[in-house]
Amino acid sequence: MAKHTDVATVLAEQKTGEQIEVKGWVRAFRANRFISLNDGSGANNLQVVVDYENFDDAIIKNISFHACVGIKGTLVESQGKGQAVELLAEAIEILGANELDKYPLQPKRQTMEFLREQAHFRMRTNTFSSVFRLRHALAFAVHSFFNENGFYYMHTPIITGSDAEGAGEMFQVTTLDVDKPARTEDNNVDYSQDFFGKATNLTVSGQLQAEIGAMAMGKVYTFGPTFRAENSNTSRHLAEFWMIEPEVAFADLNDNMDLAEAFVKYLINYVLDKYMDDLQILDARIQEEEKNMKAELRRPMGLIETLRFVVEDDFARITYTEAINLLRSSKPYKKGKFEYDVEWGVDLQAEHERWLVEKKFKKPVIVTDYPKDIKAFYMRMNDDNKTVAAMDILFPGIGEVVGGSQREERLDVLKARMTEMDVHHEELDWYLDLRRFGGNKHAGFGLGFERIVLFITGMTNIRDVIAFPRTPGNAEF
Ligand code: 4AD
Ligand code: MG
Repeated sequence: MAKHTDVATVLAEQKTGEQIEVKGWVRAFRANRFISLNDGSGANNLQVVVDYENFDDAIIKNISFHACVGIKGTLVESQGKGQAVELLAEAIEILGANELDKYPLQPKRQTMEFLREQAHFRMRTNTFSSVFRLRHALAFAVHSFFNENGFYYMHTPIITGSDAEGAGEMFQVTTLDVDKPARTEDNNVDYSQDFFGKATNLTVSGQLQAEIGAMAMGKVYTFGPTFRAENSNTSRHLAEFWMIEPEVAFADLNDNMDLAEAFVKYLINYVLDKYMDDLQILDARIQEEEKNMKAELRRPMGLIETLRFVVEDDFARITYTEAINLLRSSKPYKKGKFEYDVEWGVDLQAEHERWLVEKKFKKPVIVTDYPKDIKAFYMRMNDDNKTVAAMDILFPGIGEVVGGSQREERLDVLKARMTEMDVHHEELDWYLDLRRFGGNKHAGFGLGFERIVLFITGMTNIRDVIAFPRTPGNAEF
């Protein structure tokens, strides 16, 4: 036989009576007789029936958990329940045996923390292979959504001299000797001798460069890795994460919200439509996990039900000021149950966002028009001179998934804001040029890719939806 067949193809075509060859990893070996084989091509395993009397003990012994095997045999209608077809093994080759009794994973439930330490093996588990197939599907859907809607994909730089968010949370990129960097006469580090002739960092966002694209190509988006040296050790933060940032000429805040809502719903519909097997595996995982939990700790809905619910209903839209008023008249506020105070001008904390989304509206909420002092310099000033045309989309269980705004297109207002917020003009003169020459109103947003993958897979820690998470104190693999 010339070539092996993907398990997904075998299961889809069900060509019983044919001789086939498959290759993959052993997900389970029951009663020395039934192998569940998976090669990553899909969510479902192929059942292989092994008559152990026909094989050497050495072969049978090596059919262990997650060992790699190649099997030739005949595909037949299954005698048992749970699968339509099964493979009767005629020849088994151990392609990659496991060192005896040393494989760290076990064919049973293991904690996410343990599996994180075994990130070189966790992709072989049912849960993680489904997570990473969905991650792929969602990345693909990002491109198809924008392509279908007339956007151009642009690659913004990874290494940059500017701090787009002005939050100072950047990783420096340098080839200077960190022990003895070149010094200027007044003993500062002499970045003119650094690789790029100036200080540079890993980007925190491609937005500012995407604005260049929007002012020429109309509708553009970036989708790339971004880096933040924020010391947030939470289940929602990574130091290296992927962000999708569309930027649209002639668009205002309302257009921006409509685009973001349509985009997120497209992503969810895409996997509901094409990746139901993986969603079912993850849905079942959650049910299993919650089986012994108290009712109030369980999620209000199953995973697939939640996804359907989100795409079927409009997102709620409220201003920041309305959100503050709702929070201040809420039960937990009045009973002093919130840890953080709720006050106009102060950023919403996770507990406040969760109350709005999970208790008050029971669906995604778009909060707009935040106080200028808690948002970035580029957001468009509203007529009240106190708030900016910002929007955050808050999701159940996660909080902020999207952050965006209409951009300040008025040169004088933008310059005043930059001065007020201590953003250096020289570094961003080209950004100001976009307001000096052929500028126009425009808007955009950033969707945190891992945050939406987290929501759609129903996983609870962002470290479990990126293959090799980077977090404070951890850059393993
Ligand atoms: O709200 P942020 O900081 O917005 C921007 O960076 C803008 N430049 C976007 C734009 O308008 N083009 O980040 C956008 C999104 C957040 O809503 C969140 O989903 C995600 O990026 N995000 C993170 N995801 C994982 N780990 C982190 N440390 C994140 N920080 C932000
Ligand atoms: Mg934000």
